[in-house]
Amino acid sequence: METIRLGSVGAGFVANFHAVALKSVRGVELAGVTAPVGAEELSASSKANGLGDCTVYPSVAELCKHCDAVAVFAPNFARIEIVEEIVEAVKAGAQLKGLICEKPLGRTIADAKRLVALAKEANLPTAYFENQIFMKSIKNALMQLAPAQKAMGPIALARSAEEHAGPHEPWFWDPTQQGGGVLSDMACHSIAVSWYVLTPVGKPANFLEPVAVTAETSLLKWGEAKYRKDLLERMGVDYSKTPAEDFCTGMVTFRNPDTGQLVKGQFTNSWMYDKQGLRLFMDGLGPGYAFEVNTLKSPLEIFIGDVAAEAVADAETALEKATASRGLLAVQPNEADLYGYVDENVDMREAFLAGKDAYLNWEYGLEITKLVQAAYLAAERRQTLDLTDPGIQKELDSYTSLIAQGKGAEVLFR
Ligand SMILES: NC(=O)c1ccc[n+]([C@@H]2O[C@H](COP(=O)([O-])OP(=O)(O)OC[C@H]3O[C@@H](n4cnc5c(N)ncnc54)[C@H](O)[C@@H]3O)[C@@H](O)[C@H]2O)c1
Repeated sequence: METIRLGSVGAGFVANFHAVALKSVRGVELAGVTAPVGAEELSASSKANGLGDCTVYPSVAELCKHCDAVAVFAPNFARIEIVEEIVEAVKAGAQLKGLICEKPLGRTIADAKRLVALAKEANLPTAYFENQIFMKSIKNALMQLAPAQKAMGPIALARSAEEHAGPHEPWFWDPTQQGGGVLSDMACHSIAVSWYVLTPVGKPANFLEPVAVTAETSLLKWGEAKYRKDLLERMGVDYSKTPAEDFCTGMVTFRNPDTGQLVKGQFTNSWMYDKQGLRLFMDGLGPGYAFEVNTLKSPLEIFIGDVAAEAVADAETALEKATASRGLLAVQPNEADLYGYVDENVDMREAFLAGKDAYLNWEYGLEITKLVQAAYLAAERRQTLDLTDPGIQKELDSYTSLIAQGKGAEVLFR
């Protein structure tokens, strides 16, 4: 079997999640890593799990010389500089088959456009890693409902949510580093999922045209004095000065270019979901049929009483972002597969070996960035934005949200 040698730029949370996923993927070897923090640990676990030698390299340039595909699993603020280094390495002779970037592609539309241009400059196929579209539950729902969709008409309303109690690293909380709050961090997933499930069976991922966006951003928990103090102490981020939204909701309206039908994707995301841990919730409603996914429902149920709880070292062994280690716990035995990481890596491998873009490429990532940024602008203006208006599109091209500029108080405290 032909193997792709994968190189990881970054060795934090998501790089380790992908490493778990790779245990279930044939023909991908974790060949190397470069990262200021965590590289040795990722290398050791990769070797222990038979995923590959995962050599630690001192630079992006060195990594590129020893792998076939490079994955940018580093923080959002480091994307452009890293991809510039990759492009330089390719120009210097590195033989790459493809470039991967985790969500969100850019912190702004200008950032995302720059990344698309860099990949073109290197003439490399790309993969935009949006795992939730690859969730087996979503794929199966659409497959099961395909005949009903053909007979009755497409899904007309999709609702999608990703929620947890808050990110694990300070840079996520700092809107000037991350590019915003939960809208930038997690609505990018939910908007993509809705766009995907609303798309008529057999049509490409960008078939439906986004025509309007409305959104609200709020600071519901982490702006309160008690929690603001906690955040400052734990993460060093001061939400009295540079707040980001911990809740967002909104709606994207899409138009079917063949029929003119308008369909709606509603998103809701929060960093104040103080329940068992990460919850992905999606549903889709078509005429006469529907589906629903809730990742907190598991066939496995665990109970740990107070006395036994002393023995549980890490709540996150049960579930990503789990906040409790006792009581009735939601436990997912294979989160990497459940959330779609396995299948997105399979898709990437097949595409890159065939010399093609993955199912979702960086141009698609740019479209998602546009929708996220349009949602910020809609929330700032308290207006529904008409995305077919060339004036709005032009404005968005150079737009940085007030929240991402560190001026979130103007939006969130009004
Ligand atoms: N698909 C998902 O659901 C999902 C989940 C988590 C994170 N992510 C995305 O993955 C990316 C990384 O997030 P994370 O949670 O792993 O972050 P993290 O902070 O846990 O890890 C970041 C890693 O990148 C390294 N790094 C930092 N600056 C770097 C630089 N300039 N060059 C090279 N490496 C650098 C760090 O040392 C660390 O190893 C983010 O873009 C995030 O949005 C996606």
